[in-house]
Amino acid sequence: MTLSPIKPSQNNNTHNSEYLRQIPLFRLKTTIQKPLFRKVPETFDVIYADPPWDYDQRTFLNKKANNTGSASDHYPTMTLQQLCCMNVRKLRAKNSIMYMWTTGPQLQASIQLMIAWGYTYKTVAFVWDKIRLNPGYYSMSQTEFVIVGTHGAIPKPRGRRNVRQFLQSKRTRHSQKPHEIRRRIEIMHPEQTKLEMFARDTSSGWFSHGNQCQGSVQLPL
Ligand SMILES: C[S@@+](CC[C@H](N)C(=O)[O-])C[C@H]1O[C@@H](n2cnc3c(N)ncnc32)[C@H](O)[C@@H]1O
Repeated sequence: MTLSPIKPSQNNNTHNSEYLRQIPLFRLKTTIQKPLFRKVPETFDVIYADPPWDYDQRTFLNKKANNTGSASDHYPTMTLQQLCCMNVRKLRAKNSIMYMWTTGPQLQASIQLMIAWGYTYKTVAFVWDKIRLNPGYYSMSQTEFVIVGTHGAIPKPRGRRNVRQFLQSKRTRHSQKPHEIRRRIEIMHPEQTKLEMFARDTSSGWFSHGNQCQGSVQLPL
């Protein structure tokens, strides 16, 4: 008899028990040797967030500009107040670092959000040049930013400290951020527990949370 390769669910917690129940016992023996379960930690050293900002019609939309529509055409958005009410403070380790995606118009709100979640704003960690120009009310815009803040000290041991701030890569689907930024964070914090909030996909080495993410972990938010 030929057995098809066992494909564990991408889910890190609840759904795996359902998956295990469906496996015949003779296959369970081999499956169980692989770590199907990853216990979700109560707190995280690194939190990487891409909030579903509610732009409140503040973006400059121009049909000719090849734009892909507003965020609310793609997913439910949240107001600053709703975001501030999420209990992210509970998820911080004693020493924790937060990386948060933001845009020029959202910069002030994102720093406010970081403070509400209990982090001290430090600087702009990454600048993404999307290459394509978008019309704006002031200058033409083509960049997004990842701001960084800390709670306590920067988690130790630290990884590489020579990671570049600037990244140039073409944007793809609406709101999709380049994987390279996640990779750079991994290099900077190789040994830490890492959570991605508002994720749409899971990533190896990360706990991912998001309402469009298959395999999202459950969090007490
Ligand atoms: C800006 S997008 C994230 C895009 C992602 N970083 C990527 O590169 O594909 C924000 C995501 O947050 C999700 N979201 C909205 N409200 C949420 C909530 N209350 N809890 C969890 N996820 C939420 C949206 O559905 C959307 O998938």
